[in-house]
Order: sequence, then C-alpha cells, then structure tokens
Amino acid sequence: MTKVWIVYYSLYGHIKTMAEAVKKGVESVEGVEATIYQVAETLPEEVLGKMHAPPKSDYPIIDPTTLPEADGFVFGFPTRFGMMAAQMKSFFDATGGLWQKGSLHGKPAAMFTSTATQGGGQETTLMTAVTQLAHHGMIYVPSGYAAGGIMFDVKDARGGSPWGPGTLAAPDGSRQPSEVELTQCEVAGKQLATVAKKLKA
Ligand SMILES: Cc1cc2nc3c(=O)[nH]c(=O)nc-3n(C[C@H](O)[C@H](O)[C@H](O)COP(=O)(O)O)c2cc1C
Repeated sequence: MTKVWIVYYSLYGHIKTMAEAVKKGVESVEGVEATIYQVAETLPEEVLGKMHAPPKSDYPIIDPTTLPEADGFVFGFPTRFGMMAAQMKSFFDATGGLWQKGSLHGKPAAMFTSTATQGGGQETTLMTAVTQLAHHGMIYVPSGYAAGGIMFDVKDARGGSPWGPGTLAAPDGSRQPSEVELTQCEVAGKQLATVAKKLKA
C-alpha cells in the first residue's frame, strides 16, 4: 500500500473538514491508504478560550520524526496574515533532523488553506509554504486546474486556486466549506495519491 498522510492545523474546524474531503479523494485511488493527523497546538488554553476556539478533534497529534514512514503528504493550514499559521510552522521547524538526513527528499506533497476573506491570502499562504517543501527536496504537487469547470466559475465566492484548495471562512468563521471547495479537496487528494503511487512504484 502507498501511504498518504494528511497533516493539518485547524483552530475553528474549516481545515479539519477539508482534510476529511482530501482523505476521500486519496482513498479513491486503489492501493493508497490515507491517515489524518493534526499538528500540536502551541497556544495556551487560556488564549484558546479567549479566541473562542472549539475543542480539538480526536485525530492523533503527529510526531514529526515519523514522517519518513509516509510516501506522500497533503498539508493543510489556515492563513495568518497571508502566511501559514505558526502552529504549522512550529511543526515544520521540528523537522530539522529529517532535513539533515534528507529523509523527505523526493516525496510528493500538496497543500490547502483557509482564509477569512477573498483576497485574504489564499495564494500567498500556499506560495510562501513552498519554501518548506523546497528545503526538504519534496515534490510540490499543485492543484492546477484539475478540478475543471468550477475553477473558471466566477459567479459565486469561492476559495482555492491552482496552488491548492481553499475555503473562505468569513470574518466570524460562520461560512463552512462549500461543495465546490470540498470537491477541490477531493480532486487534490486524488491527484496527490496518484503521483505518490506512481513514485512508489
Ligand atoms: C492572527 C490571525 C491572523 C489572520 N490573518 C488572516 C489573513 O491574513 N487573511 C484572512 O483572510 N484571514 C485571516 N485570519 C482568519 C483565519 O485564516 C481563519 O480564522 C481560518 O482560515 C479558519 O480556519 P480554521 O477554521 O481551520 O481555523 C486570521 C486569523 C487570525 C487569528
């Protein structure tokens, strides 16, 4: 079996919902199994309370040293001022030992994100995160326009770009990922799984 790990950080749940849609897409490829992990929280409980953060999901917390066991990754994280959330960056900062040994070199990775607003950093968040993949020698698998017609439809507000799937959470977090955005997630998962399987073979 080809192993794809979906590794995410989510404060309000949007990225978690998207991770589950990505998993569906990964599992649609025969011979590929998907596992969802979340990265460790770095904010104290008191701060999380003040931010009205809901309780975390039950997905296991990733141990960064285990990453070499996977054949491919899909990383998901919300934006913070147009870049990845610090919790995700802390996770990547804990992979120095793997970097030193080149343990992730040649492994494929796709990414997805969430912003409050349109123009809030969908593309910059994923574009700036490519540096993490580049330094590890990982192979970035962007979404391109694989999701088809929905990528060209400008009638309704939607997240996502050729850099990877995205959702618009709204400033108060009230908007949930739409069908179109979840479809992008499934397509991206399927695409990454296909590449990971070919590379493993
Ligand atoms: C400190 C901070 C900075 C943020 N910066 C941005 C931003 O630059 N652009 C934007 O659209 N949303 C911004 N947001 C909103 C988050 O991206 C939004 O809450 C998140 O995408 C929801 O995803 P989640 O439910 O998975 O946590 C910010 C939120 C916080 C707490």
